[in-house]
Amino acid sequence: MAETERVPFNDLSRGMARDREIMLAATADVIDSGYAVHGSQHSSFEAELAAYLSVEHAVGVASGTDALELAIKAVMPAGRSAVLTAGNAGAYTSTAAVRAGFTPRYADVDPVTLCLTPETVLPALDDTIGVVVVTHLYGYLGDAATLRSLLDERGIALVEDCAQSIGAVRDGAYAGSFGHAATISFYPTKNLGAIGDGGAVVTRSAETAETVRQLRQYGWAGKYNATLPGGTNSRLDELQAAFLRLRLPMVDGFNARRREIIDRYRAAAESLPSGLLAVLPADGEHHAAHLAIARSDRRDEVRAALADAGIATDVHFPLPDWEQPAFARFAPAAELSATRSAVGEILSLPLFPELRDDEVERVCSAIRGLR
Ligand SMILES: Cc1ncc(COP(=O)(O)O)c(C=O)c1O
Repeated sequence: MAETERVPFNDLSRGMARDREIMLAATADVIDSGYAVHGSQHSSFEAELAAYLSVEHAVGVASGTDALELAIKAVMPAGRSAVLTAGNAGAYTSTAAVRAGFTPRYADVDPVTLCLTPETVLPALDDTIGVVVVTHLYGYLGDAATLRSLLDERGIALVEDCAQSIGAVRDGAYAGSFGHAATISFYPTKNLGAIGDGGAVVTRSAETAETVRQLRQYGWAGKYNATLPGGTNSRLDELQAAFLRLRLPMVDGFNARRREIIDRYRAAAESLPSGLLAVLPADGEHHAAHLAIARSDRRDEVRAALADAGIATDVHFPLPDWEQPAFARFAPAAELSATRSAVGEILSLPLFPELRDDEVERVCSAIRGLR
């Protein structure tokens, strides 16, 4: 198969080409300003991001993983030592929890949405757990309001990981506005992607925002005056902030296009025999459609057949956190059966806003041709 006929899993060059002129102009503005970090692009982006999400505060940091680490540190109640999360979300929270000095623990996910729910979280709680990180995985925003109130009753903080869900809305409230804090990644493939790394912590609490602001700069209360232990250097630079300001107003359109592509994949898979390939829905504004996830009883065979048809696929994510050697010591005592079966069945289909209709059709026709 000629390289030009392949349907890529993602192709960042298309978005960069679309935004080339406006990004070059923004680059010139940054250079002319003389600011490299924490200048007016950064403060404007923080304000615009907070306004978009209808939250009071947004704090720029260097990555989504840093955002998780600093958010966990900022909201962990005194005397608690563990962070409860899902094991199928790429181990970013496990990484952050360990860096923050706490123990990752795992609850099972809902077998349909593959996300934590109040029902899966409640039985896993104990009095060591101070923070629950709910990852709105693949873009799906579930019932975060109920989760928040159940945790509030128990003195446990909720952090929403919105790395994959920026722009998802439920009952008029954005992903990121339910938790004590929420985290976002601007990694280039994300729904709001920079041209480099970046992240943010958003919160309604002035106190939490101030703690994260201190933690992202050495624990400083002011220059050369570190008052808060556990600080680090985690800054979002001016260029990335400028690029993100240009793309923030495009996110709703990107998300709508992503949902439309998933709808087409779903329709193509509808007549397949049960178990061969089912595409998870992204059928409304509660879903930011970050990834097009399908499940199959014969995942590896299906991936090979799609590869033969020139369709690139991936798996998000292939191992539960505790099966990666770095986190093996945190393996749960009991089997988490929904997490376990999901990781063996999921595959991700090509999905990015610049995917062309003819390419979407090629993926659909390869899906229809599966046997
Ligand atoms: C669910 C989730 N959380 C956190 C992250 C970490 O973000 P970053 O790569 O910016 O550190 C990612 C992606 O990379 C992610 O998909």
